[in-house]
Amino acid sequence: MENILFEMNTSVFVDNYKATAPVSCIENAALCIRGLNVAIQGKPILKDVSFDVPPKSITCIIGPSGCGKTTLLRSLNRMHDYTAGMKVTGQVTIDGNDIYAPGVDVAALRRRMGLLAQRPTVLPMSVFGNVAYGPKLYGVKRGELLRAIVERNLKAVGLWEEVHDRLHSPAGILSVGQQQRLCLARALAVQPAIILGDEATSALDPLATRTIEELLLRLKQQLSIVLVTHTLRQARRIADHVVFMYMGEMVESGSAQQVFSNPVHDLTREFVGGSIG
Ligand SMILES: Nc1ncnc2c1ncn2[C@@H]1O[C@H](COP(=O)(O)OP(=O)(O)OP(=O)(O)O)[C@@H](O)[C@H]1O
Ligand SMILES: [Mg+2]
Repeated sequence: MENILFEMNTSVFVDNYKATAPVSCIENAALCIRGLNVAIQGKPILKDVSFDVPPKSITCIIGPSGCGKTTLLRSLNRMHDYTAGMKVTGQVTIDGNDIYAPGVDVAALRRRMGLLAQRPTVLPMSVFGNVAYGPKLYGVKRGELLRAIVERNLKAVGLWEEVHDRLHSPAGILSVGQQQRLCLARALAVQPAIILGDEATSALDPLATRTIEELLLRLKQQLSIVLVTHTLRQARRIADHVVFMYMGEMVESGSAQQVFSNPVHDLTREFVGGSIG
């Protein structure tokens, strides 16, 4: 596979950037979250959340509705920057660098973290245009290279056979499941290190859900995935690691095996056992 990063402006941290404070986390962690607090108009939503996202694996964030899963996920790529009244404190680090420190290029940061939303968010342009969008934005100009990137990423999400003869049709004509795979291809086209997903299969039927889950299981060989999951069954099927949230606090995080089979906290036991949530 050709490396396209050399064609793109990818630096996230300015040259004279200094991490605010060293954070100790597991070796090669994709992300370290330490003492993360989020409040809106002074009202706390997330309280002192800390955990590590291990590399090349799937981390599922679970917890009852309203516990702060989406807020947590959006904190990981600074999606709250534009929400009036939202205050974020604490640290989220990548490679030892705090993404909330001054001087961080937020656009470049988001290139490193592809986002898969709850409903497919195709751009109002062709299938080809959707996948080529990110690489073009980051400076890839050569048509031949763009065509290779589009083909490779559509193949990576199993869409090439289905759409290769209508690459220039509007993306909106694809089925919902195909659109979600197209969004995944669009995210992958800029070679992110992390994929974030917020209930990314909740709008899909069981077959399309399975296709996305199988893709994520394959993709974790190359990158790290953080998913807010809408069903415990999905977390049981695909999670390597689990973070259990309750009323804005992180109750427990650990391997899926540990959290599901031998949770440390009673609350976790009740949630995974189905008696709360
Ligand atoms: N922009 C906002 N303004 C006001 N309150 C907000 C905002 N965003 C989130 N909240 C509140 O923060 C809490 C956590 O919301 P969040 O969407 O993170 O929960 P969730 O765990 O993702 O829930 P669900 O499973 O229903 O999607 C909720 O009480 C919600 O109302
Ligand atoms: Mg949510």
